[in-house]
Amino acid sequence: MTKELDWKNLGFSYIKTDYRFISHYKDGQWDKGELTRDNRLHIAEGSTALHYGQQCFEGMKAYRTADGSINLFRPYENARRMKKSCDRLLMESYPEEQFVEAVKQVVRANEKWVPPYGTGASLYIRPFMIGVGDNIGVKPADEYIFSVFAMPVGSYFKGGLKASNFIVSPYDRAAPRGTGAAKVGGNYAASLLPGKEAKERSFSDAVYLDPETHSKIEEVGAANFFGITHDDVFITPKSPSILPSITKYSLLWLAENRLNLKAEEGDVYIDDLDQFKEAGACGTAAVIAPIGGLQVEEDFHVFYSETEVGPITKRLYNELVGIQFGDIEAPEGWIEKV
Ligand code: PLP
Ligand code: COI
Repeated sequence: MTKELDWKNLGFSYIKTDYRFISHYKDGQWDKGELTRDNRLHIAEGSTALHYGQQCFEGMKAYRTADGSINLFRPYENARRMKKSCDRLLMESYPEEQFVEAVKQVVRANEKWVPPYGTGASLYIRPFMIGVGDNIGVKPADEYIFSVFAMPVGSYFKGGLKASNFIVSPYDRAAPRGTGAAKVGGNYAASLLPGKEAKERSFSDAVYLDPETHSKIEEVGAANFFGITHDDVFITPKSPSILPSITKYSLLWLAENRLNLKAEEGDVYIDDLDQFKEAGACGTAAVIAPIGGLQVEEDFHVFYSETEVGPITKRLYNELVGIQFGDIEAPEGWIEKV
């Protein structure tokens, strides 16, 4: 039996679901892990995650299809990206197959929280890892916890496919050769103040420029940027300090192979916004959020419209979401059944 929630009006907020998966690394090995109802962690005061930010996470979703089954979207990509984050922070990685199996266990155990097909909502899944144990020096932990929890969510940016406005931030979320490409908490801690300042001025979120030259667009809050040029090229930034978004790589492929556009990663100069007729943010939580206007210092640049989604962005959205919910045939290997 599915839960009775207001599925169509879920935002992006914490909801305690019934089960989460937890596994411990100690004495050089991971235990086999288990499902638990306990959503609290009891960890050592010296845990490296608490002092030195030795932690990382992933974000992915499960989708209820028309036939009632449940889809995961490219979960092995999340497993691989988490390994890269772990490598960057000298953490023990969690084996790929076991990562995907843990995610499936959590989805199955919380099946009644997976939103019904047709509501637009999905089950957001949050795998994470933290360095724990008795420690005080700045060095990698000897012990780790890997855990996965999940909750139903709706739109991340208010309005979903309605366009909204963003503002270029004077701050950076990551350093040029820092941890921007890893999904680690420090990048998000650095984004809290810019995000707050953007929202205080009624913008949906902050847009970050490249930290080296401040001349190119990098990220849109917790999502990647894309633009559609007047001659129908899908462009998304290429940079060592942005998160390699799984949604972004999926859209690059779909733009080229399903929409017959030219699609490329490249530089997106902040003083060349006129080349775009549409722009958007993309990510697991954000899905595709059209960027209406972008405040760049004293100038306000409008792409397609301040309120409406552009036609190409809409087609990309329909293709992506259609695949995720099982309505449109997926490229080989993109859907994993729970
Ligand atoms: N960029 C940042 C900073 C993010 O937090 C996310 C969210 O995961 C993304 C981009 C989008 O990545 P993905 O499409 O893999 O969810
Ligand atoms: C995701 O899209 O999964 C993210 O990680 C964004 C999140 C930080 C809210």
